Amino acid sequence: MVDFTLTDEQEDIREMAHDFAAKEIRPVAWTYDRGGTWPQGIIEKAWELGLMNSHLPEQYGGVGGSYFDACLVGEELAWGCAAIATTIGANELAATPVLLGGSDQVKEQYLRMLAEEPRLASFCLTEPDAGSDVSSMRTTAVRRGGRYLINGSKCFITNGGYADWYTVYAKTDKDAGHRGISAFVVPKDETVTVDKHEDKMGLRASNTATISFNDTEVPVANLLGQENHGFKLAMMTLDRTRPGVASLATGIARAAFEFASDYSKERIQFGVPIAMHEAIQFMIADMATKIAASRLLVWNSAVLLDQGKRNTLVSSHAKRFGADSAMEVTTDAVQVYGGYGFIKEYPVEKLMRDAKIMQLYEGTSQIQRLVIARETLLPRPVEVPQKPQPLAVAA
Ligand code: CAA
Repeated sequence: MVDFTLTDEQEDIREMAHDFAAKEIRPVAWTYDRGGTWPQGIIEKAWELGLMNSHLPEQYGGVGGSYFDACLVGEELAWGCAAIATTIGANELAATPVLLGGSDQVKEQYLRMLAEEPRLASFCLTEPDAGSDVSSMRTTAVRRGGRYLINGSKCFITNGGYADWYTVYAKTDKDAGHRGISAFVVPKDETVTVDKHEDKMGLRASNTATISFNDTEVPVANLLGQENHGFKLAMMTLDRTRPGVASLATGIARAAFEFASDYSKERIQFGVPIAMHEAIQFMIADMATKIAASRLLVWNSAVLLDQGKRNTLVSSHAKRFGADSAMEVTTDAVQVYGGYGFIKEYPVEKLMRDAKIMQLYEGTSQIQRLVIARETLLPRPVEVPQKPQPLAVAA
């Protein structure tokens, strides 16, 4: 029996996240967008309420929430502002490889740090010449006795300028393609530099930075999983975080839909509210369907994770459909507003700019289609251990 009804506890979580978004995020979202303002105060309040790091196990001071709960929260926060929701949610991306491949000592040190204080961590995978093509990264990690020496530069790093530690992917065997990549936890020190803060089209209240590692040393204990198994760790991480991105996309789309529906009932043209015109009704109907379908894919991909199943295919369905739908819904919302939709004084142009990143980060919509095609045409085994033992990353 499939039941899409939320439990009382899930309703409470969703309501708490919605209240927070309505009271703390929405009222400042458009101002923060204009200024590209860093939302430090909001981060601290979200952390206090347990809306941040909800995935961290109780063992390390976290609340041990489910992937499903995190997606409920994600949709509500992004309904408030996707930039602020991204800032609040990005610790999950950095922490997941640690959860999957870190030793107990590394987990205790770095995950507990996030649970005990409103601190940030970043996921450092992308490089200027290694975006979709992860294997062509140039950052290196060379073993010197009991330490690794890391050199290289990572770009488009969410929260990079404010992070206390980083999950860094680097080549430990330059000639082995994806089988020569390893992952490390790297604390920020004087050898780690923040080289550039990006000035972005959308998601402007989030921080996106270039981070360089200059002869940065970490102990061998900071290796996550086995040496040269970092690529799989990255893919397993993205399987777990793409549902969260899809939940943000659903939240943006829902916000745009609500603004457009309300406006269509107020705006009079040809003597009636434009909601009376079939042209507008059909746009509103398509928006509603896309949001409902996006949410179901998010829920499906998160529930598979909570059941301990591999969700690669559904995760990419959710990310691809959610992101593309958010772009379409926000574009249609601008259309419903007509010329006013193009003006910054009205709310929907920000949502259209914010939606665009959903088709780009954590794997473009084209990469999701590639994954979907591969998983459909040549499926890999569906069942894998949900929680691989530290230092033994399995696919
Ligand atoms: N889980 C476990 N293992 C996986 C896997 C998965 N989901 N997907 C692939 N693998 C394994 C394969 O089985 C294969 O294993 P073997 O070595 O045993 O053969 C190995 O990984 C290589 O797989 P592929 O041949 O499929 O690899 P590929 O080079 O063709 O790449 C890809 C596949 C889908 C294109 C992948 O590179 C990809 O997802 N690219 C997009 C990267 C991305 O999403 N970047 C976003 C960065 S994070 C971000 O944006 C956040 C931010 O802060 C801004």
